[in-house]
Amino acid sequence: MPNDEPTPEQQLASLQQQLVQAQRLAALGELVGTTTHEFNNVLMTILNYAKIGLRNKDEATRDKAFDRIMTAAQRAEKITNSVLGLARNRKEEFAPTNLATLLQESLILLEREMQKYRVAVHCEFAEAPPIRAIGNQIQQVLLNLMTNARQAMPSGGQLLLKISHDPSTNSVDLTIRDSGSGIPREQLPKIFDRFYSTKEGPDESGKGGTGVGLSACKDIVDAHQGRIRVESTVGKGTAFTIRLPVFEQPTTSQVSIPIPKLGVPAEHAQVK
Ligand SMILES: Nc1ncnc2c1ncn2[C@@H]1O[C@H](COP(=O)(O)OP(=O)(O)OP(=O)(O)O)[C@@H](O)[C@H]1O
Ligand SMILES: [Mg+2]
Repeated sequence: MPNDEPTPEQQLASLQQQLVQAQRLAALGELVGTTTHEFNNVLMTILNYAKIGLRNKDEATRDKAFDRIMTAAQRAEKITNSVLGLARNRKEEFAPTNLATLLQESLILLEREMQKYRVAVHCEFAEAPPIRAIGNQIQQVLLNLMTNARQAMPSGGQLLLKISHDPSTNSVDLTIRDSGSGIPREQLPKIFDRFYSTKEGPDESGKGGTGVGLSACKDIVDAHQGRIRVESTVGKGTAFTIRLPVFEQPTTSQVSIPIPKLGVPAEHAQVK
């Protein structure tokens, strides 16, 4: 007789999925505080330049005011789009994804926080093909890793974001390196464990302390057939590297030659 009861393995997989979802919502909730503040700053800029424009009738001042209003409004648009992207639960399916774009979108959400804690962000993005990813989930990984990095540098430091393409394994590597506290050798094997945290609770920006960030990262990267690894030196900093497979163009036949888009040279046939 067939048994419809889920097996313990299926139950575990389903619980793991629910936890990843819950972690995404928690991360979203935490971002609301930061981004609302940031949004308010942008609104202040718009209001102030609108007042300047109204008070001053000369063309030069008005042009400058419009210019500032425009820049601020564009920034506001980017912030809303990034938050909505995460909230909207974009398509939960694997699609060709530009990692650099996703990283930049995620950075917009944390930009203010990085400035506040005097963290200087450097990007080194090499040319890389699109990866096979569920965009929303990889964004969750990026936000978790960057938040951890920021929290490891309470009095400022350097955050290096590096993207490189490894043609030999057909994968894209992203390294997130901080100049923070580092992780003691004996703690390293535990950091990906669910509920393992050395933080006392949420920090003043309302983030951290549950110990689910890295376990969610690992679950997501595993589901993408990727790898996550860490290198750390106490007092010097930590580097997390995620390796994700390049999106393979589906072929209409068994011939494994990618079909380039019409009119687009093969080397530019990247999905942005
Ligand atoms: N970049 C880092 N530098 C130093 N320690 C780190 C770093 N990233 C993670 N850790 C260590 O690994 C632990 C687990 O990280 P994880 O993100 O899973 O949990 P958390 O940040 O404590 O809480 P949250 O669930 O809010 O993410 C952290 O408590 C910290 O001790
Ligand atoms: Mg964390």
